[in-house]
Amino acid sequence: MEVIIQPDAAQAVDLVARLLAERIRARPDIVLGLATGRTMEDVYERLVASRVSFRECTSFNLDEYIGLPPDDPNSYRHYMQVHLFSKTDFRAENTHVPDGAAADLREAALRYEMLIRLAGGIDLQLLGIGQAGHIGFNEPLSAIRSRTRDKCLTPTTRAQNAEMFGGDADKVPKRALTVGVGTILEARELVLLATGPAKADIVARAVEGPITSMISASAIQLHPNCKVVVDEAAAAGLQARDYYDFIFANEPEWSAYR
Ligand code: GLP
Repeated sequence: MEVIIQPDAAQAVDLVARLLAERIRARPDIVLGLATGRTMEDVYERLVASRVSFRECTSFNLDEYIGLPPDDPNSYRHYMQVHLFSKTDFRAENTHVPDGAAADLREAALRYEMLIRLAGGIDLQLLGIGQAGHIGFNEPLSAIRSRTRDKCLTPTTRAQNAEMFGGDADKVPKRALTVGVGTILEARELVLLATGPAKADIVARAVEGPITSMISASAIQLHPNCKVVVDEAAAAGLQARDYYDFIFANEPEWSAYR
């Protein structure tokens, strides 16, 4: 794992957007794993502005609320349409979001896993992190080998996402369909982005704490090609930041980003 600390959220977002655009230009038919949440809105805005072409790309989103149809303004399918898909040349048929409105969720989950496999697996998985330590909607005690399935959300997550539901946590669906931690770990590269002081504690636990299913994001420590990009505020709890800064300042891989 490499941890990249940027002075502020805008620069952390910029770095991630640049890295994504670079990967897409290097491999136009890349298979992307995409994330939602407020943090990602700025990443998508930068990507749209970069004018990189998504024409040959395939995408798989991490998760979707159960019970929300794709056109519901709070669904993650709708979020992706608004922030990325409708503003780029992504082909609709190449974009995938789990079907939270499926009558048979188990079948929808198995199908999603199959589609990822048929696409050749995910090349680059973008990740945010929730205050409950989730990646996707892998809430505490999600098995590190879990696959796409339905998951009950924690009160912490429902409170964190209440803003999008008029500030009422009771309106946030109780369950979601999410790719598993095991599915995420099979992506060839992981890029986790976290910004702001509210993420400082959970970032420190995920990056430097023990690997535990209580914090599913800690499983990224098992991944051989993983980058964590944070701003100063989200980096505040990290112990080894001098070393992370040293790597960013010296590794040739990062020379274009310094
Ligand atoms: C939701 C998504 C997660 C994402 C998280 C972060 O809960 N299911 O995949 O990591 O939001 O949200 P934000 O960026 O709004 O803090």
